[in-house]
Amino acid sequence: MTTLRVLTGITTSGTPHLGNYVGAIRPAVAASLKPGTESFYFLADYHALIKNPDPARVQRSTLEIAASWIAAGLNPDKVFFYRQSDIPEIPELTWLLTCVTGKGLLNRAHAYKAMVDKNAASNADPDTDVTAGLFMYPVLMAADILMFKSHKIPVGRDQIQHIEMARDMAASFNHLYGEHFVLPEAAIEASVATLPGLDGRKMSKSYDNIIPLFAPPAQLRKLIMGIVTDSRAPGEPKETEGSALFQIYQAFASPDETQSLRTAYADGIAWGDAKQMLFERIDREMAPMRERYETLIGDPARMEAILLVGAERARALSAPFMAELRQAVGLRNLSACTVPARTDRTARAALPSFKQYRESTGLFHFKLVDPKGRLLLQSGGFASAREAGQAVARLQVEGKAGLDSVQAMLVPVDGVMPAEVDAALQLLRQATNA
Ligand code: TRP
Repeated sequence: MTTLRVLTGITTSGTPHLGNYVGAIRPAVAASLKPGTESFYFLADYHALIKNPDPARVQRSTLEIAASWIAAGLNPDKVFFYRQSDIPEIPELTWLLTCVTGKGLLNRAHAYKAMVDKNAASNADPDTDVTAGLFMYPVLMAADILMFKSHKIPVGRDQIQHIEMARDMAASFNHLYGEHFVLPEAAIEASVATLPGLDGRKMSKSYDNIIPLFAPPAQLRKLIMGIVTDSRAPGEPKETEGSALFQIYQAFASPDETQSLRTAYADGIAWGDAKQMLFERIDREMAPMRERYETLIGDPARMEAILLVGAERARALSAPFMAELRQAVGLRNLSACTVPARTDRTARAALPSFKQYRESTGLFHFKLVDPKGRLLLQSGGFASAREAGQAVARLQVEGKAGLDSVQAMLVPVDGVMPAEVDAALQLLRQATNA
């Protein structure tokens, strides 16, 4: 049985927030502990370059995200945890995939289309602010996925299209060069909640409503006190429905704890007290992680070393696979190159050959003759030159294996042994396919 391979990338732009923790980090760490799965988590720093031109920010974010995942319980010895830019086979594979990907497929990518639409809306040139990096983003992502033959890709809904594109690229490549890639599937975890932010909308950097994952307690408390609520006074019963505070609490609490808060809402708990409960609950879960995080972030050289070990383990898979792919597409060592059949007259004269001709009946025929002109095979009549040509092509490509399929169209030739015909066909086939 093959183990299930799960892979996901985290773009290294920005600082992780509680929404990332609940929606991605926590479920991923839990999944990585499941037996029978091999997990691949990587820092997608090449992807970060597409949107983030600030080098110091890319570096800082890579450190923060790497430290967050480990602080949250990811065990780098048990999973593959690496930085995309440490795997040179990924950009190399990106090029091979680029060459089997229709430009039209990439034209349909949502992120690219959104930019083009935005430009159209403001009467700008459609290419304004569109880098080739943005356009090629799905190919780089496909390389991330296909490189490690991953089966399941846990992502948000906005990424499903990219996984489908990766499938398309894998299928095109396999069709052209043989079955090298596993076709990946998106895995959308229905039970994972999207966390509301301070203003009640989905927690997201772009809404500026986030709670940083490892905010120090004082800042955490201050942010939680700023969560929007309605204006019901202490003593008035409160609605859990639509309460961001309640939803955030639920994402951290046990069912029993959630039930107690529900009761407290009905009993008219003051918003300030409910917020204090939420702060204490989150802080209880975060405190030990925060401590690990601070230690890791304070020792960036150690983080670097962890990632380099991860890269080494990942490259033990990617380097041999890339060698296989290079071979498949023809980027090969020349010393093993077979010299193609010589095409001058004398060389051709040494091979058996097919002749096609038309009889006075109007039907089309072919025959196979040996280099001296002796008849080896003779066909009956075909209605068209095309059909006769197809039968010849089949024998040329398949050699004696193709004989069965044309047998019905052959007429017997006296004094020729089947083995002679077989040998002649094999010889021709080698020369044709070389
Ligand atoms: N594009 C993904 C995102 O923005 C990150 C990513 C890069 C990724 N490569 C990947 C996710 C490969 C899954 C698999 O969320």
